[in-house]
Amino acid sequence: MKKKIAVIGLGYVGLPLAAAFSKKYTVLAYDNDSARVRGLNSGLDRIEQLSKTDLIQLQQRLTFSEDPKSLSDYNTYIITVPTPVTRTKEPDLSFLLEASKTVGQYLKKGDMVIYESTVYPGCTEEDCVPVLEKASGLKFNTDFFCGYSPERINPGDKVNTLTKIKKVTAGSTPEVADEVDALYQSIIEAGTHKASSIKVAEASKAIENAQRDLNISFVNELALIFDRMEIDTQEVLEAAATKWNFLPFKPGLVGGHCISVDPYFLTHKAIQLGYTPEVILSGRNVNDSIPKFVATKVVNLMRNKGIPIDGSKALILGITFKENFNDIRNSKVPEIYKSLKAQGLAVEVYDPFADPQKVKIEYGITLTDNPGQYEAVILAVAHKVFLEKGLGQYKNPNGAIVYDIKSALDREATDGRL
Ligand SMILES: NC(=O)c1ccc[n+]([C@@H]2O[C@H](COP(=O)([O-])OP(=O)(O)OC[C@H]3O[C@@H](n4cnc5c(N)ncnc54)[C@H](O)[C@@H]3O)[C@@H](O)[C@H]2O)c1
Repeated sequence: MKKKIAVIGLGYVGLPLAAAFSKKYTVLAYDNDSARVRGLNSGLDRIEQLSKTDLIQLQQRLTFSEDPKSLSDYNTYIITVPTPVTRTKEPDLSFLLEASKTVGQYLKKGDMVIYESTVYPGCTEEDCVPVLEKASGLKFNTDFFCGYSPERINPGDKVNTLTKIKKVTAGSTPEVADEVDALYQSIIEAGTHKASSIKVAEASKAIENAQRDLNISFVNELALIFDRMEIDTQEVLEAAATKWNFLPFKPGLVGGHCISVDPYFLTHKAIQLGYTPEVILSGRNVNDSIPKFVATKVVNLMRNKGIPIDGSKALILGITFKENFNDIRNSKVPEIYKSLKAQGLAVEVYDPFADPQKVKIEYGITLTDNPGQYEAVILAVAHKVFLEKGLGQYKNPNGAIVYDIKSALDREATDGRL
């Protein structure tokens, strides 16, 4: 039967995916956020994954819809909804289960449901399938089938885009695995890797991000140690990197929707199975301690230079979790902001990429659009525009310090760096 694909959830992952499939298949692009669908129908992608021209072309190839009833005409459902963690760092499956329930209501015999959201091993078959079965009244692996294919795109990366990244695929039976694999083969130029089971594919995604988190936590821990030793971490890393097998990770803030979140999916499942991960969780703790360290360091640098804290102002440059990109999810900058304020500084944040309204709603911070001069200037995100213009203009000529979290500026132009 010819595949008719419905993509559920049109965010950073779902929109480009629907666009890629629409070149070869009949595609419905469904999202339950009507403002999102209205925007896409009027040529506006508020998360700037697609340009207006691309969106207008795309409107000819697929249907955007917020009406769940439109799902009934399709036979292959690909779910790409968010999988955040709760305040207590537990997996929040609410979006995933809600989307499963919606799809379940329209599931027919022979249909296939593929999940792309990042989850823990076992989530698709143990948590989502029962919801699909209940909502549809159909039987898994008899009446309908499942697949899993984790998304590996890098937010804001214009080079390693969806079709250029090898895709891991899996299915709920060997035949379905072949079918899922063939489906992705048909759009992914970089090819696919067929995993032996859905659980293996789920685990592969969870460890990709946990590995990155841990590698960064190691160099972050080094930065904490070398600060006490009064040696420059970057200089140590540069020297060590001359060995062929030294991994070139840099210290920094670990935020965003994936790296700072996904390890908790893995640790949640491990704990449920009776094993408390030590390495993964301690890496998370180190990475989460960096904002406070930065704020304390900035205040100490000011004191060392004889700059009073009371009555002084600090400017943080950047709040997105990545350079030259607008995504502010799980930014660690608000923690630096709060910590600096708690220590007595007046703090402003400037980021020409971030949406001021979203920042206000998400973090209660009013972005400045007209930065002046400050006693402390902190480069938090290395947006090209900051590096091109330099930070000198923001320094109070009567005394200021510059702290470079990203090690993106000349060492001489800063008073300290992570
Ligand atoms: N952002 C990335 O670069 C990236 C990379 C790899 C993997 N992932 C994973 O992919 C998944 C999706 O992430 P994202 O960044 O695209 O999220 P997102 O927040 O950008 O988009 C999700 C979309 O799903 C919609 N949605 C939520 N519940 C829905 C429902 N019940 N029915 C229909 N639509 C619904 C939302 O309105 C939103 O438009 C997550 O599991 C994430 O961890 C993301």
